Amino acid sequence: MSTPIRVAITGAGGQIGYALLFRIASGALFGPDRPVALQLLEITPALPSLGGTIMELEDCAFPLLTEVKASDKAEVAFADADWVILVGGLPRKDGMSRADLIRANGPIFTGQGKAINEAAGPNVRVVTVANPCNTNCLIAKSHAPKVPADRWFAMTMLDQNRATAQIAKKAGVPVSSVKKVTIWGNHSDTQYPDYKNAEIAGVPAPKVLREDSWFTETFIPTVAKRGGAVIKARGASSAASAANAAIDTVANLYHPTPTDEWFSTAVVSDGSYGIPSGLIYSFPLQSRGDAAWSIVPNVPIDDDARKRLDASAAELISERDAVKDLLGPAL
Ligand code: NAI
Repeated sequence: MSTPIRVAITGAGGQIGYALLFRIASGALFGPDRPVALQLLEITPALPSLGGTIMELEDCAFPLLTEVKASDKAEVAFADADWVILVGGLPRKDGMSRADLIRANGPIFTGQGKAINEAAGPNVRVVTVANPCNTNCLIAKSHAPKVPADRWFAMTMLDQNRATAQIAKKAGVPVSSVKKVTIWGNHSDTQYPDYKNAEIAGVPAPKVLREDSWFTETFIPTVAKRGGAVIKARGASSAASAANAAIDTVANLYHPTPTDEWFSTAVVSDGSYGIPSGLIYSFPLQSRGDAAWSIVPNVPIDDDARKRLDASAAELISERDAVKDLLGPAL
């Protein structure tokens, strides 16, 4: 058997963690030939119940799972990690403002960024799920000067999956027929789920659905506000679909992207599409495998899309300003 890939997961004892660990252990990230070791981080009071989850992992007798360890110390959980998935933090509750969430969760990522810098493996990749994920990613990155900029990701795949499912439902086609859906910007209400460049069975989505008002009045708000709608209905934030999207994010980066497809993940902007450099902004990406990714160039952006892309960038700048005191030297 080849060397296991070490995956560290924070907030492993939470809702998303419970939906994530078993799928990773079963081989959903790296395929059926690659063993995995899980390194779980939780706050001290959550360790006993995480112990129960670890018993369940053992009881699954997953052939690919070589090791599981749990700790309340970030340096221990991140030691030699190849991938770190940052899930730990408060989820947004009904009625909680984004500003409250930023101030509640931001401080977690200063310490965890430093611990990644000190303890993680030399090729570590970091995916931030905990909200506000773009800005938390920025905070962690700013404290980890040893980890190059192309190793940092924030999750907008749940938005992409939501958008894909809405288009497929409206068109009455299987989700597998819908491709090239892009989420631009922040994982927030200002994101732009780009339907104009999406394709249904190889044909531009607006040519198939021919109903611009559905896209602007129903589709965009449904996708952007879906997280809130799930919280209202379930009384808790999306968990299984978020775990599924985290798996899609890592798998999309790890495996080469088919030439006629792309996927959305927030990365450190290099100035592409006029987005200020350094913001953690969601773009259409392709991977050459092993997380060697690039931003898909020349996706057409019309005036309306331009305004939406810029509005989301402006929000990210204001989030960055709101956590100025938490940012480290490696911006
Ligand atoms: P949860 O409350 O069920 O679990 C969070 C876990 O994090 C808890 O077990 C808690 O003990 C742990 N935790 C808190 N502080 C920690 C720290 N400093 N270090 C390590 N662990 C810590 O929440 P859930 O539902 O699992 O959500 C987790 C995060 O994911 C939330 O911030 C939520 O907003 C975010 N989320 C992001 C989505 C996205 O699309 N990017 C979608 C859905 C949720």
